[in-house]
Amino acid sequence: PIAAIDAMEILDSRGVPTIKARVVLQSGASGAAAVPSGASTGSEEAVELRDGDPHRYFGKGVRKVVAHVQGEIAKGLVGRNALDQQAIDARLIELDGTPNKARLGANALLAVSMATARAAAVERDLPLYRSLGVGKADLLPMPMFNVLNGGLHAPSSSMDFQEFMLVPLGAPGFTEAVRYAAETFDALRKLLQSMGHSTSVGDEGGFAPRLGNGNAAACELIVRAIERAGYRPGIDLAIALDPAATSFYQEGEYRLTRSGHQRYSSEQMIDLYADWLSAYPIVSIEDGMAEDDWSGFAQMTRRLGERIQIVGDDNFVTNVRFIQRGIDEGTANASLIKLNQIGTVSETVEAVQLCQRAGWRTVISHRSGETEDPFIADFAVAVDAGQMKSGSLSRSERLAKYNRLLEIDAELGERARFVNPYR
Ligand code: PGA
Ligand code: ZN
Repeated sequence: PIAAIDAMEILDSRGVPTIKARVVLQSGASGAAAVPSGASTGSEEAVELRDGDPHRYFGKGVRKVVAHVQGEIAKGLVGRNALDQQAIDARLIELDGTPNKARLGANALLAVSMATARAAAVERDLPLYRSLGVGKADLLPMPMFNVLNGGLHAPSSSMDFQEFMLVPLGAPGFTEAVRYAAETFDALRKLLQSMGHSTSVGDEGGFAPRLGNGNAAACELIVRAIERAGYRPGIDLAIALDPAATSFYQEGEYRLTRSGHQRYSSEQMIDLYADWLSAYPIVSIEDGMAEDDWSGFAQMTRRLGERIQIVGDDNFVTNVRFIQRGIDEGTANASLIKLNQIGTVSETVEAVQLCQRAGWRTVISHRSGETEDPFIADFAVAVDAGQMKSGSLSRSERLAKYNRLLEIDAELGERARFVNPYR
């Protein structure tokens, strides 16, 4: 049973406050976890509560959230069985009492939910990915490395699109996949340097240069980097995109202001993606349409869904209600999964399982504001997610997740499976 719960305010990778919680069991076992924070958030995400006190961190402090954990939440959970994650999470939801976790804060609930899972793993003397006890826990996720950052994650770059990712789909295992991508990232750095471009990085550790023709030039550069690293584009490494189209959707049109001030309808955006599929080895597009553009999403899935993975993020917000609608309407064929979009471990597991039952693929994801907590690495393996994205091959809060997966890969040894999900 749970003996005590504590929390504190720490800082995320943007230097913005977030919450870390610790759960201590009567046995003495304990676990801690920290919550990340997004920038290009979906409007239906569970509520990330902040103090709003302009005298501290421009209102972004989380002292109230910490107080909720130390007070109401601790009181409501002490004595409960930490090994029953579902019951703990149901209790957290009940304590909050709102549909979007606005009262106590999804950040408060998630910190405690994750810390409880950690404490339970210690109690069971199992690694977290096995203690969660959801799937077979032997499948390492295909990683997506966000090597060029644009959009809201790199406002000074020339890319409207938020993420240009490397997918080492030809690698024989996870550990080799990391090497393929790290070598390509290094080749990309040298390429940018030789062209006189900046190699400073954005929020997710990818380069954020000002390229002539922003979005398309980024894809071209990645292909060149793959070749320069000695790999075959489309065979050893491919490209995945997250345009995060909600961030440039205004008054019913897509406005690519950084790359030529063009305005596109949904259909024209899909035409653009279709052209790119012929020009570049793209295997996945996430949020190619805006969160409110459900018909655009469905149209895109009809036109391109046989050829590539269509991932929903801002439109589904890891919420079974929206994912179910997406399945019913053929809005995508995969879902991004972020624990803090929904606010408890158990609800996140439910979202993954709904996707899996429908034959949809899942991508476990970090947030652009991260901490050194590698929880999602264990989570991705625990639920047989198949894919994970955690940014680039720089910035230790990004590498913490990949490094944890390297450990898990080594620990599983021969038993580890690694599957190209796009075949
Ligand atoms: P965010 O970006 O964490 O800023 O929302 C990640 C994503 O859009 O996938
Ligand atoms: Zn996204």
